[in-house]
Amino acid sequence: MPLLVMTGFILHVRSNCVKPHRLVFFLSVRAIIMELFRKSEGKVMISNRMSEKLKAGSLIRKMFEEGNRLKSIYGEDKVFDFSIGNPDVEPPFEVTSGLKDLINNPTPGMHGYMSNSGYLSTRQAVANKLTRSGHTAFSADSICMTVGAAGAMNATLRAILDPDDEVILLAPFFMEYRQYIDNHFGKAVIVPTDAGTFLPNIDRISEAITPRTKAIIINSPNNPTGAMYPASTLEAINTLVASYEHVIHIISDEPYRELVFDGQEAVSTQDYIDNLIICYSWSKSLSLPGERIGYTAVGPRHPDLDVLVPAITMANRILGSVNAPALFQKVIEKAMDAKVDVALYENRRNLLYDIVTSSGFTCQKPQGAFYLFVKSPDTDDMVFSQVCARHNLLVVPGSAFSMPGYFRLAFCVSESTIKGSSVAFRAVSEHYGLNPAQS
Ligand SMILES: Cc1ncc(COP(=O)(O)O)c(C=O)c1O
Repeated sequence: MPLLVMTGFILHVRSNCVKPHRLVFFLSVRAIIMELFRKSEGKVMISNRMSEKLKAGSLIRKMFEEGNRLKSIYGEDKVFDFSIGNPDVEPPFEVTSGLKDLINNPTPGMHGYMSNSGYLSTRQAVANKLTRSGHTAFSADSICMTVGAAGAMNATLRAILDPDDEVILLAPFFMEYRQYIDNHFGKAVIVPTDAGTFLPNIDRISEAITPRTKAIIINSPNNPTGAMYPASTLEAINTLVASYEHVIHIISDEPYRELVFDGQEAVSTQDYIDNLIICYSWSKSLSLPGERIGYTAVGPRHPDLDVLVPAITMANRILGSVNAPALFQKVIEKAMDAKVDVALYENRRNLLYDIVTSSGFTCQKPQGAFYLFVKSPDTDDMVFSQVCARHNLLVVPGSAFSMPGYFRLAFCVSESTIKGSSVAFRAVSEHYGLNPAQS
C-alpha cells in the first residue's frame, strides 16, 4: 500500500495533476486512512461469525494439509492418508458416454437458464427412480435439482428454519451439518446414538425434542460409522415425530444410498417416514463430487408438501445456486441406473477392516459408505491422531464428528495404500500396547 501511495504521489507531482494519477493518489490516501481507522477500531472487515469459523478451521482440512506436507517429504507411497472422503474410483461408463453424447449432439439452449427446480425431464427421471426403489410413488413436482447434497441440505434448512429453531443431530455425524444449520441461524442439538451400533436412540431423541424442534437429520448409510438403519429404526422415528402436534421434518441425507455391501440394499426411507425430505447427490454413487449435482425430494405423505417444494426451490434460487448445473442434470438423466463398482469398495473395506482389527483395534464392520469408525486406544483422540501422523498414518479424530474417543478412516484410497498401511497400524498398536493377532 505505501508503494501505491508513493507512486501516486510521484505521478501526481510530476504530471501536473493529470487526472488518472490524481485518482491513484487520492484512492491510495483514502485506502490508508480507512486502514488506520479500521486498526484504531480494532475491527476486522469480515463478520465476527465468519472470523470465528476461520479460527476454528476444519480438522479434516488440517489432516489433508498435513498429508500433503508428509508426502512431499517421504513420497506418495510412504504416506497412508485415510483422511478425506474423496472417491478415487472413476465414474462409470454411462457418465462419460452420456457426456460425450451431449457434447457431440448439442441442442439449442442446453447451457441456458431453466426453472429453478431443474429440467422437468430430469426431475421426472429422478421421481421414476425413487418410485422404483421402494413402494412409494413420487411425482416430478416434488423434486428440486440442487448443487450436490450440500446444496440440497442448505436449501432445505433455508426453507424450514427461523432463527433459533432447533435441529437434532445424531452423533457421530458429518461435521458440515453444524455449519449448514448455522448458515440459516438454527441451533444444533446433539443427541448421541447407541454405543456399539451407532443407531439412533429413540428415547434420547424424544428427550431432546422441544416446541422449537424443526427437524431431525438422519444419514444412512452413515458417515462416519458406515452403519445402516434397519426398517424398525425408521418406523420408530416416524412414530415418535407423529406423536407431536407440530411438524418435525425428517431430513434424510442419503449420498451413500447405493454404496451398500454384503448383497444388501439400503432401506427406502420413503416407505417408512411421512415427514420426509430426502437430500441426495451423485457425488459418491457416480464419483462426481466436483460436478455438484444432487436433489431434494419431499415425501408424498409430507403434510407440508405443497408449500415445502416451492420454498426449497426459492431457497435454491436465492442462495445463489439459481439452478443445478445444466449439463450434469442431462448426464445423470442418461446414467440414472448406473453406479460405481461397489465391489471395489467392499474389497477395500474387507482389506482395511482385517488390517485394523488384526492390529488390535476394535471397530464395527461398516455395512455401507466408505468409512471405518474405530475406537481410539488413547483417551484423547486428538493426541492419537498425532501419534498416527508420526507413522505417516493420517486419520481423523472422532471429535471432528462430535464423538471423541474414536477415529475415522476413509477407505476410498488405493488397495496398495491400504495394504502398505498395515506396518503403520502395527507400529501404532505397539505404541499403545494393544494385542495384535499373530500373523
Ligand atoms: C454425509 C454426507 N452428507 C453430505 C455430503 C456432501 O455431499 P456433496 O458433495 O454431494 O455436497 C457428504 C460429503 O462427503 C457427506 O459425507
